[in-house]
Amino acid sequence: MQESFEVSASGGSYRVVVGRGLLKQIIADNPDALFLIDDYFATLLPVPAERKILVNAAESNKALECMAGIILKLRELGANRATHLVVVGGGVIQDIATFSASIYMRGIRWTYMPSTLLSMADSCIGGKSSINVLGYKNLVGNFYPPKEVVIDVDFAATLDPEMIVGGLFEAGKICYARGYDDFQAYLSDDPGVRMSTDTLQRVLVRSLKTKKWFIETDEFDQKERLLLNFGHTFGHAIEASTHFGVSHGVAVGIGMMVAVEFAKARGWLSQTGLKRTEVLASHVRSLLSLDGRGLVVSPPVIHLDLALEKFDNDKKHLSGVYRMVCPRRDGELELVSEPKNSDVLRDIAFAYENALKAITWEVLPVSGDKIGAGVTPVHPAVQQQM
Ligand SMILES: NC(=O)c1ccc[n+]([C@@H]2O[C@H](COP(=O)([O-])OP(=O)(O)OC[C@H]3O[C@@H](n4cnc5c(N)ncnc54)[C@H](O)[C@@H]3O)[C@@H](O)[C@H]2O)c1
Ligand SMILES: [Zn+2]
Repeated sequence: MQESFEVSASGGSYRVVVGRGLLKQIIADNPDALFLIDDYFATLLPVPAERKILVNAAESNKALECMAGIILKLRELGANRATHLVVVGGGVIQDIATFSASIYMRGIRWTYMPSTLLSMADSCIGGKSSINVLGYKNLVGNFYPPKEVVIDVDFAATLDPEMIVGGLFEAGKICYARGYDDFQAYLSDDPGVRMSTDTLQRVLVRSLKTKKWFIETDEFDQKERLLLNFGHTFGHAIEASTHFGVSHGVAVGIGMMVAVEFAKARGWLSQTGLKRTEVLASHVRSLLSLDGRGLVVSPPVIHLDLALEKFDNDKKHLSGVYRMVCPRRDGELELVSEPKNSDVLRDIAFAYENALKAITWEVLPVSGDKIGAGVTPVHPAVQQQM
């Protein structure tokens, strides 16, 4: 069954449609549209070459340096102010499309069909783009939502378990950020690696309608929407320190567990907060372990020294203070600022160590000089190898 709802934005509202068989319908209904698509679907999309632009969804392609090439392609295909651009792909293609559609002839109409679970459950609404510049990730960007978001759940059929779990972590994050009742409702939908398409659709609609509240309350990331960075500051450090060997969504799941461990180490949680965050952490652990078979086929070694360095350099911190989203009191999320000193850094290192005990990947410990004098937390798995 097809479902739809509206998202209000200052530039006008847009419709979100979720269902099956929608790709076919979009192609049939838009005989004059141009298509910007992930080249993974090159042979699967029955659209003539003169109406499509294929883009490889490599992180290196969502760079400011590559935007001129996309703009030129649009020009060569005859795009003008009246052109309707249909975009098919995950977050990388979405970022490229948001940015280029916003600047081509000062903005053209576009429709987005997300194809990864991360983009279906989270990034497809909100209208943001994040573009890399000369190796700096997500350094520039803007807001330019599509006129319509069309989610064909059949795209999920070819996603591997790691991509499914990464998307579920973002969906779980959104629901947890809204409140514990919303997170319980999300769990009651029974999200998992082997979901039926009906279950997947239920999870997606819940995640997106919950995100809609954040977007409509705080369109430009000033307050409530910042809570959606839960898991991201701690997670980005894992992503970056493994040279993206840990994918974004999986890193966000690990990052949420680190945030919970940090809150515990700082003594911020009540008994209720401890119980609620344990429900969240055990959900993350169960998805990461994938029935004991391990989710990531060749897990990279995590060097905690490097992860702490990346954490320290995160652009969301201010001078002298670390800023991150953490659970407080009864488990509700808050944007917290902590001074950059060895006491705080020791708790951060400890939180990483504790959270990573949940997974069986090799983790190299933090060396004492990273956190000043004092206790050096060492992961038990590493202790055994020494
Ligand atoms: N703009 C935003 O609001 C926002 C939010 C979150 C993340 N992002 C960005 O999104 C990017 C990550 O996006 P992503 O995780 O959606 O994936 P992606 O776009 O990086 O794609 C990952 C891989 O999956 C393949 N793929 C896409 N759809 C598939 C399908 N249906 N079946 C099989 N393979 C498929 C792609 O070809 C690619 O190889 C990052 O660059 C991140 O910074 C943007
Ligand atoms: Zn994310």
